[in-house]
Amino acid sequence: MNNFTFHVSTDIRFGKERLGELPDVLNTFGKNVLLVYGGGSIKKNGLYDTIMAQLTANHNKVTELSGVDPNPRIETVGEGAQLCRDNHIDVILAVGGGSVIDCSKVIAGAAFSELAPWDLVLNRNYQGPAIPLVTILTLAATGSEMNRGAVISNLTTKKKLGVHGPHFLPQVSFLDPTTTFSVSRYQTAAGSADIMSHLIENYFSATPQTDVQDGVAEGLLKAVIKNLPIALDTPDDYDARANLMWASTLALNGLTGSGKGGAWSCHPMEHELSAFYDITHGVGLAILTPRWMLHVLNEETAPKLARFAREVFGVQESVPEMAARMGIQKLYDFFASCGIPMTLPEVGIKDDQHFEEMAKQAVAFSSISQQAYVPLSVDDVIAIYQDAQTPSNYL
Ligand code: NZQ
Ligand code: ZN
Repeated sequence: MNNFTFHVSTDIRFGKERLGELPDVLNTFGKNVLLVYGGGSIKKNGLYDTIMAQLTANHNKVTELSGVDPNPRIETVGEGAQLCRDNHIDVILAVGGGSVIDCSKVIAGAAFSELAPWDLVLNRNYQGPAIPLVTILTLAATGSEMNRGAVISNLTTKKKLGVHGPHFLPQVSFLDPTTTFSVSRYQTAAGSADIMSHLIENYFSATPQTDVQDGVAEGLLKAVIKNLPIALDTPDDYDARANLMWASTLALNGLTGSGKGGAWSCHPMEHELSAFYDITHGVGLAILTPRWMLHVLNEETAPKLARFAREVFGVQESVPEMAARMGIQKLYDFFASCGIPMTLPEVGIKDDQHFEEMAKQAVAFSSISQQAYVPLSVDDVIAIYQDAQTPSNYL
């Protein structure tokens, strides 16, 4: 195991009816609040009214930024940063999924920075100050509620890039599973695929002897596999939603990645799908992950892939390569059974005209060609995209 520092100080307020604590939480930072949310789901499910009642009673001065898109845009970051400066914002309250939280993180930094918002993203590691951030998570998926990362899209230049910053870490995050009862089947499945992908990306690392991280990842993967079908059948099943929500947070707060080296493989490839075609992040990952697993399956990787198959999906096969293939098939079938479209044409990517450009960007903007579990060249990435054009069978 490698050396690491694990210091993730977000104050998590998990459970039902915790929003009564919101005024006290906000008052530790100041009265001027920027309320950031997306396309209106919080108005439909009543959360907006609940929050506004708290803020009004608490005499907060509220400025609103609504309409944050899934795959949040750099233009929205610029708009939010200007609102912060004009209104002397003390604290940002992000209410939504990963897109709203990510957008809020970069707004929080851009409000203070001399850099233009896209230059701040291009910096990839923003060390400057940021306005304090409080989140109310409404979708179990990204883990943004308890990490220092954000992902922003520039559709003009067809780029979607991650940026990290020590001060992007939310100060407080409210995790009330009942706020996710209204998430659609599609977004519930996509969010869970994203959680699983974060665990899988960390799991497949060349660093040896990481039994703690790998065991935790296997347990969280099994929790998602058990609870996602329940949440799809019964959207208001509290415990299923609670397990997915807590899995989302733990999958990407450093718990299963600390102490491991290397670089993620599927996320850089997926970010290009979203940058070029604006598709749902978790769906892109579900499509790519089994194809990537097959692409990197060889004598050296078969034992770890077989362990994944046995521990996560209960595969009994003793021959490593066969067990690995059975695990990949089970992962593919699980995603398909949850209603996730499993080919690129089904999400509107009908031809391969941009594959080369996307593959070049995936390699240029990450270290997959040097540090991934199995290093991937531009040609490898193109082959994985090509394979994703048709349904797959791994047995
Ligand atoms: O915009 P609204 O109306 O709120 O609707 C959203 C949106 O349409 C809807 N939704 C959210 N909560 C809901 C709800 N609908 C009904 N009821 C609710 N309670 O769901 C749709 C998708 O929301 P979004 O925030 O885009 O989803 P997600 O949480 O999956 O975030 C995806 C973004 O996060 C990035 C992705 O790349 C993508 O841009 N990621 C961020 C990471 C991070 N910061 O650590 C890591 C991830 O790997 C990922 O890259
Ligand atoms: Zn992700």
